Amino acid sequence: KTANIGVVGLAVMGSNLARNLASREGNTVAVYNRSHDKTEHLVSTHPEAGFISTSTYEEFAASLSQPRTAIIMVKAGRGTDAVIEELVKVFEPGDIIVDGGNALFTDTIRREKAVRETGINFVGMGVSGGEEGALLGPSIMPGGSDESWVTLGPILKSIAAIAEGEPCVTHIGHDGAGHFVKMVHNGIEYADMQLIAEAYDLIRRGTNKSPAEIADVFAEWNGGELESYLIEITAEVLRQVDADTNKPLVDIILDQAGAKGTGAWTVQTALDLGVPVSGIAEATFARSLSSHAEQRAVSRDLPGPAQALTVDDADSFIEDVRLALFASKIVAYSQGFDEIRAGASAYGWNIDLGAVSKIWRGGCIIRAQFLNRIADAYRDAVELPVLLTAPYFVEALGRAQDAWRRIVSISAAAGLPAPAFSSSLAYYDGLRAERLPAALIQGQRDFFGAHTYKRIDKEGTFHTLWSGDRTEIEAEDTH
Ligand code: 6PG
Repeated sequence: KTANIGVVGLAVMGSNLARNLASREGNTVAVYNRSHDKTEHLVSTHPEAGFISTSTYEEFAASLSQPRTAIIMVKAGRGTDAVIEELVKVFEPGDIIVDGGNALFTDTIRREKAVRETGINFVGMGVSGGEEGALLGPSIMPGGSDESWVTLGPILKSIAAIAEGEPCVTHIGHDGAGHFVKMVHNGIEYADMQLIAEAYDLIRRGTNKSPAEIADVFAEWNGGELESYLIEITAEVLRQVDADTNKPLVDIILDQAGAKGTGAWTVQTALDLGVPVSGIAEATFARSLSSHAEQRAVSRDLPGPAQALTVDDADSFIEDVRLALFASKIVAYSQGFDEIRAGASAYGWNIDLGAVSKIWRGGCIIRAQFLNRIADAYRDAVELPVLLTAPYFVEALGRAQDAWRRIVSISAAAGLPAPAFSSSLAYYDGLRAERLPAALIQGQRDFFGAHTYKRIDKEGTFHTLWSGDRTEIEAEDTH
């Protein structure tokens, strides 16, 4: 018996992906794990899967039909390099090594280049949807060569989530493109989560509703334009009661958010590319602020406003929060797609942004109806420079903006942090502005560093002789 696909690394994500693969018509799955116990455990607890158990890389390779195709599901980092090294020894030109971990896309570019020299294909593949997604159908973002996609495409289509009849997988682009898109997916995930958290916090403080009552609000929102997996699970988390204390679990969980790094990568990469992903950045920073317990402890007595948040009409306040959330969410996605566009152009990937939005409609953490609107926007205007200028979003932002402004002002006046709401609004107004004070910054730069400036009324580059007679001269462009 030979396998058409293998999985290396049988922790939860790997085991679940292997079971998902095995459950689909036509697949036979070889499995390998460094400690063989885990392999035996998986194979014996899931006899229905018909796994081929292997205990060495040689055996693993021998059990695979050609082109051999193996998906690595180990924790991203050095472990990935170690597995690749072993597989390269036992695979042959034309075979395919897939890394399904959350690798940094620059690592993927490096690995792809090195593996390609052996004639073996290397595919960096983003997989989203957590444990359940891996088992039942994730959203899959593969990079790599066109050649590898020929073999891999049908296999991945068989295991991906289905959204409106279409499998949530597409060949994103070459080398690191898949992991780049997965990274930005996670950045958007951070923003989405932070925005929901800010909405919850404002409603809680503004209305004195209990977490369970706020769960009902989110459940209701989930029936409208905010429909999404994250809104849905928010209601579930808010409804949960702690068994020990009988209090809402959300009041018992320590308020320090963790992060494994993909949000930070999204922001670091955006800084390098010069893309203002301010909503994603604020979401990432909000997590780090929350986790600095000592700094928060010494800051607790800093002066705040005298007036706490007062809300006269709870229902209309909640509707304002909903609209602020929706508008800020549009900004977060617009910024994320901007980063993908910039990444594609910097790294030479031909990424179909509409196709990306479609494969995020199912399986992944940010799955939502809303992604259809993004797909529409790119269908109607492939080269759309700013996603939020698509007609649907213009209408939505127009409808939401008064509420959004009220929420940002109310929270600032009451001393309640809403960093993602407010930075998204500032981004929106920054984009809209006809003139920005960047002109003054150029003046300052020219003053202290002779960095030069351009003029609105004629071509060329100029410098004012600030420490001389303050006349203007034409200058070399120094940016
Ligand atoms: C997914 C998730 C998944 C995970 C990340 C982010 O798409 O399935 O994004 O990749 O949740 O590891 O987790 P942190 O919040 O720990 O950074």
